[in-house]
Amino acid sequence: MSERVYIFDTTLRDGEQSPGCSMTTPEKLTMARKLVDMGVDLLEAGFPIASAGDYEAVREVSREFPEARVAALARTVPKDIERALDALDKAKNPRLHCFIATSEIHLKYKLNKTEDEVLEAAVKGIEQARKHVDDVEFSAEDGTRTNLDYLRRISKAAVDAGATTINIPDTVGFMVPEEYAQMIAAIVAEVGDRAIVSVHTHDDLGLAVANAMAAVSAGARQIECTINGIGERAGNCSLEECAVIMKVRADHVPFHTNIKTELLYPASQLLASMITFGPQPNKAIVGANAFAHEAGIHQDGYLKNPLCYEIMPPELVGVPASNLVLGKHSGRHALNDRVKDLGYEELSRDQLNRLYDAFTTLADNRKGLTNSDIISLLNQLQIQERGARQEVEALAPGA
Ligand code: KIV
Ligand code: ZN
Repeated sequence: MSERVYIFDTTLRDGEQSPGCSMTTPEKLTMARKLVDMGVDLLEAGFPIASAGDYEAVREVSREFPEARVAALARTVPKDIERALDALDKAKNPRLHCFIATSEIHLKYKLNKTEDEVLEAAVKGIEQARKHVDDVEFSAEDGTRTNLDYLRRISKAAVDAGATTINIPDTVGFMVPEEYAQMIAAIVAEVGDRAIVSVHTHDDLGLAVANAMAAVSAGARQIECTINGIGERAGNCSLEECAVIMKVRADHVPFHTNIKTELLYPASQLLASMITFGPQPNKAIVGANAFAHEAGIHQDGYLKNPLCYEIMPPELVGVPASNLVLGKHSGRHALNDRVKDLGYEELSRDQLNRLYDAFTTLADNRKGLTNSDIISLLNQLQIQERGARQEVEALAPGA
């Protein structure tokens, strides 16, 4: 059996904090449901000191998903850690994720602190968190532009203080794979089996996924990533790409995750329906063209045997084999079949009726509806149901 790699999803934190990606708490809860069903190991739900919305999201995700491991972000300062711990107080499996910058440029211009002062702040923050939770992650922000000796020293001090995961973020997306792998190998050697080494990569040079994969080969066992690769600037490491690489290229990347890959496309579409943009059409795994064949020679080869031009079946990632357009003359039965093909749970009669009403209203004004349209309608239905449930709970006596 290959070794397990943990998937730490930060769609609701690093993803959500980027332009055009903000989500309401009900939307975060709907997205969290999909991520939990998909099998992510950790859900980072927000940065509680940053806003009331982030605080509420961490609380609500912890309350609604007691089975999940929920993470909240904090700087290594007492008031941040207190606020994050407070937001996590209903979580059954909380993780406190604290960070401080470690690179020379951040120390000099942003923090105006010495290396020793930063190390002391990190140790104090971790010790404060460990008094309340067992699971503490420490991130050395801008770790990849940090002097390696200091990075080793602060990683060891963090583990001595009680951190159970050490994350080395490529905050500015500057690494190339070989270089990142060497750095991660050095940190793995430093902390041994006392902590899991995690990677958090950004895509400024288009290398976030390649860097994460190289780091896993060098000993990292947690990847921090987001659906559709959303995140600061050019984005974070794409969850769907990492999960599928480990499945399709297990011969070269012999690791496994808990991700149910057939839920990747529905999750990608769900996210796209909540934020202001979807994946680019040529995005690997979940883009609209990822399984489309236009050129005559390709179509001919594909029809003779899909393997001529496809390295995986679309169903592996939840892209429905059929992308036939449904129109206003399509019945409930065809709609229900498509809902199942798209990886959604069986709808009740009442849910199907409501979906069908919305479907016919939209189809009346369009030539035909695609899978993305149907997914948007399903997502709207879920959000309306959640809103209605919350109103009922608020009206309940003693609520
Ligand atoms: O990119 C980064 O360094 C971060 C940390 C807070 C983990 O998002
Ligand atoms: Zn980040």
